[in-house]
Amino acid sequence: MQINRITSRVTETKADALVVGVYQDAPPEGAAGDVDTALNGAIRGLIERKEFTGRAYETAPLLVPVGLASQTLVVGLGRAESFDTGAAFRCAAAAARSLAGKPRASAAFFLDDDWSKALTEAGVAGAIVGCHGQDLYRAEKNRHPFDSLAWAGGKQQAVDDGRILGEAINLTRRLVNEPPDEIYPETFAARAAEVAQRNDLEVEIWDADRLASENCNSLLAVAKGSSRPARLVILRHHRGAKDGPTLAIVGKGVTFDSGGLSLKPTEGMLAMKCDMAGASTMLGAVQAIAQLKLPANVIGIAGLVENMTGPSAMKLGDVLRARNGRTIEVHNTDAEGRLVLADALAVAVDLGASKIIDLATLTGACMVALGTEVVGAMTNDQSWCDSVLAAARRAGEPIWQLPMYADIYNDLIKSEVADIKNVGEGRWGGAITAAKFLEQFVGDVPWTHLDIAGPAFRDKPKPWCDAGASGQCVRTLVEVVRAWKG
Ligand code: BES
Ligand code: MN
Ligand code: ZN
Repeated sequence: MQINRITSRVTETKADALVVGVYQDAPPEGAAGDVDTALNGAIRGLIERKEFTGRAYETAPLLVPVGLASQTLVVGLGRAESFDTGAAFRCAAAAARSLAGKPRASAAFFLDDDWSKALTEAGVAGAIVGCHGQDLYRAEKNRHPFDSLAWAGGKQQAVDDGRILGEAINLTRRLVNEPPDEIYPETFAARAAEVAQRNDLEVEIWDADRLASENCNSLLAVAKGSSRPARLVILRHHRGAKDGPTLAIVGKGVTFDSGGLSLKPTEGMLAMKCDMAGASTMLGAVQAIAQLKLPANVIGIAGLVENMTGPSAMKLGDVLRARNGRTIEVHNTDAEGRLVLADALAVAVDLGASKIIDLATLTGACMVALGTEVVGAMTNDQSWCDSVLAAARRAGEPIWQLPMYADIYNDLIKSEVADIKNVGEGRWGGAITAAKFLEQFVGDVPWTHLDIAGPAFRDKPKPWCDAGASGQCVRTLVEVVRAWKG
């Protein structure tokens, strides 16, 4: 999408639609004030009549032309005191989502001229994300992305960076929203290779033979039930010091999770095309990191499999020998994500990662603990986790840390037959026992695990985002790399 910066006044701007922002419990100011004056106090009237309050994501269309535009939308920005990058992203997205309900070639956003670089960037990203929905295969679209978008305020750099972030998030969302027979390990790997080629990233793809010779037996065991062979993708962005520290971003890429022989009921299975959201988030983030030319060394790794029930499917009681030598007794084939990540994390360690962050739609238990909007963070290194939490806060993406007490949780994944088993004792603390399992594969490397099972994919729309994939965490990962010092 083309993005221009606006230098004209709102009443002199040519666009099919205008957006002006109003904070909660505040009079219309700036562009909203100009529109209000041009319409003889129409916005103040809406506020006085309590038709519009300025609450975040609230939208009110003004049904009369303003200046050169036939449609103007007032969007609520919420309270000015608590406004942050998350609010900027979501309010701009809510406005875009509302306007994109009809075809409009151009939209001009006048939210607030005084926004910082971070707020402008987040707002532009949100405006791009709000234009797209999950209607990929509908003849009659729900969303009609604008051909061009114009943005008032902020510097060119902020607008350009915001576009990069918005497009990266939409890349992640699109991959997740595509059906599982379109995106499977080979086609995901091919998409990753395209992204690499377009963005000057090094790419390496391990096929099933290579994975076998690399001892990725835990990952391969999950793929055994599928006719689709497994893949592992390694992307490299090298813009840091030559022998400087390397960040590894590892993503769970289960392109469809039927549960395997521990089959899921129909109800829980429909959404399981989203089980590669971790890998897609990695890919979106790495694309943004490359386009932003961030001065860091980053490796992106995606472990890609389909979890199915074919005649060779892994069985309960099977014992797998993972890449790092640990033996795993399979107690539940639906706890497959940790089996995939076990080897993908070990690859990250072997590639010399100085720190690791992984993203996975790993457990329903994390959704029970935190609800559907908040990412669960777990770690073996508090100071590394603190920098990830701080990055998420800068991005305005909700996250909460769960404990990893060794004396309380370590024993819960012990097996009588093998070193560990792939589930905990019963269902309690399921998000944590899953992380305890992953911890076995990162050695001494500082590692933070992000369970995105809730936020990655929505059953219902939000005012700022259609249902389906969210792309949440792409901006957090970019913030991690922006602050990366090793
Ligand atoms: N992919 C699922 C987790 C999931 C659930 C993601 C809902 C998104 C929405 C994962 O592979 C899984 O099935 N986990 C099991 C683990 C259990 C068998 C220990 C779960 O959470 O029930
Ligand atoms: Mn599963
Ligand atoms: Zn899964």
